[in-house]
Amino acid sequence: MSEKLAIAGGTSVLNRSDYRNWPIISADDRRLVNQVLDSGIIAGGTAPQVAALEHEWAQYVGTGYCLTTTSGTAALHMALAALGVGPGDEVITSAFTFLASASCALHQNAVPVFVDIHPRTYNIDPNKLESAITARTRAIIPVHIQGLPADLDPILAIARKHEIPVIEDACQAHGAEYKGRKVGSIGDIGTFSLNNFKNLPGGEGGLFTTDSETYLKKGMLLRCFGDEVDEVSHRLVYNASILGYMYRNQELPAALARGQLMHLDERNAVRIANAEYLTRELSKIPGVIPPYCPPECKHVYFMYNVRFDPGLAQVDCEPRRFRIAVEKALYKEGMLVGQWQTMPVPAQDLFQSKLGYAGSSYPWTINEAKGIHYDYNIDDYPVAKMLCDTYTIVHGMHAPNGQDLMAKIAAAFYKVFGNLGQALEHADDAIYPGADGKLYGAG
Ligand SMILES: Cc1ncc(COP(=O)(O)O)c(C=O)c1O
Repeated sequence: MSEKLAIAGGTSVLNRSDYRNWPIISADDRRLVNQVLDSGIIAGGTAPQVAALEHEWAQYVGTGYCLTTTSGTAALHMALAALGVGPGDEVITSAFTFLASASCALHQNAVPVFVDIHPRTYNIDPNKLESAITARTRAIIPVHIQGLPADLDPILAIARKHEIPVIEDACQAHGAEYKGRKVGSIGDIGTFSLNNFKNLPGGEGGLFTTDSETYLKKGMLLRCFGDEVDEVSHRLVYNASILGYMYRNQELPAALARGQLMHLDERNAVRIANAEYLTRELSKIPGVIPPYCPPECKHVYFMYNVRFDPGLAQVDCEPRRFRIAVEKALYKEGMLVGQWQTMPVPAQDLFQSKLGYAGSSYPWTINEAKGIHYDYNIDDYPVAKMLCDTYTIVHGMHAPNGQDLMAKIAAAFYKVFGNLGQALEHADDAIYPGADGKLYGAG
């Protein structure tokens, strides 16, 4: 049935007031945060909330140990340093991720090497991994993108064959599972972010998980200036033994994260129910490709990724233009929708210009001086490029949003895909609210 789309002057399906905000702050958060304020202890590497969060997260994930950090980026950097990755070493990660999965290598004077993604999962493609390994590869960082576990068995098999450690970047995947095991407990080290958009928010912060006592001890040193902490007084001994950093977290974010952890499983269940409902609806629309979850995985839908295919929609339109037209039309129907990463990470200026420390080309020059060249040619990542042209993020999966919102989102999709001619006529409309060119920032 022909209807006037909102982008063509019709009435929108949704309003902003249909969406409920994330994060949810509960009585548990208030109680734990107040405990910090009442205790008067607001920081410290072994302070009560930090210590309790480390214990609870290790138990939840199923690792022997956990360390809190200032961010997920700090946890990734600490992981590489704990493994002994250093100048000129190569670190492999996915071409479709957040910058920090790769910049952590640069922070350790190592060179990021990108591998293209699988066309259905959008995670690093194990079939393309082995050809990226060189004599210089010292770590592999699979990323559990948008809440979906990477295919760890073949990744670990290749890594073990070449004796290369694996760091899981689980910054987007708190509570996700691969073959019944929680992500962050399967590789040599796991890393998580606690930033405020995440499924486990603490404001800012990170978590470093491992079963290895060696990595734990190295991590503790690296987190705190490379200095030992006296076991009796819990004070630094002020005699740094290695180069370390200041990556300690504090009591207030740790308390908040503990309150959030009490509700993580129940809120993940809401995300999954919302996502599965929407996937059932969107699968009925030719040209809409909802996210795929392999049967051996538990996806926790930190982001809900939808691709558009003009061929399947029987529309003669260039794929990127088609995505933009549909995205704008959905946005005008009142949906919170828009891209997260707009290009594969190796396409970013940092990698194209290879300007590292203070505008020099270090650390790439370490190996380039030996005749090894890094060109980050975007044609080497065709699937990540295709994804960035054709995907968008549908926001609102998180609790307390529920199936009433999902039904309205599905109705907006039906309306736009029932009237694609109008959407395409308005593909060039200037409707972006932000100077950044995004419809809606995921953060
Ligand atoms: C995949 C991935 N890795 C690493 C990070 C870094 O986490 P943080 O922002 O806590 O430093 C993020 C955070 O957005 C992320 O999404």
